[in-house]
Amino acid sequence: MAESEVEASTPNLASGTLERLRELRSRYPVARSAVLPALWVVQDELGYLPPWAEEVVAGELGLLPGDVAAVASFYSMYFSRQAGRHFVQVCQNVSCALRGADELLAGLREWLKVDEDGATPDGAFTVEGTVECLGACGGGPMMQVDRYSYEDLTLDSARETLERIREDGGGAAGA
Ligand code: FES
Repeated sequence: MAESEVEASTPNLASGTLERLRELRSRYPVARSAVLPALWVVQDELGYLPPWAEEVVAGELGLLPGDVAAVASFYSMYFSRQAGRHFVQVCQNVSCALRGADELLAGLREWLKVDEDGATPDGAFTVEGTVECLGACGGGPMMQVDRYSYEDLTLDSARETLERIREDGGGAAGA
């Protein structure tokens, strides 16, 4: 097989993403410190983190693939599979649980008709229900959609929020 054919079949990141990874590496004296922002950059491009992309990150940062995979699999905000366009996390920790987080999560899952991976049939949302405290304990029950938080939710207000985000189509609107 010609060298160009091998290159063509090997997935890689966009040149802008690779440049961002190199820039991040140069910002940190210790390469491991760049792993979290590097994973964000890659996830922003691909929507999730396939193993080959984690290997690219490891190569760019001069780390072992296992170092990067361990970080990516530890945090619920990084996806190992193609996720919905919006990522919904319903906090399940004690302050939110005492104010109905379990019922909120169950109601949203049923209303959204999520599959076993938490994805909705239209690909609009992925619902994550194992997340611990998201730092808004005084406003429980709460959910985070993409990078925005919504507090003091009822099932109705959460549904209205998600409907609005679904209709907007793009990134989640601010809370
Ligand atoms: Fe839910 Fe802290 S317990 S945000």
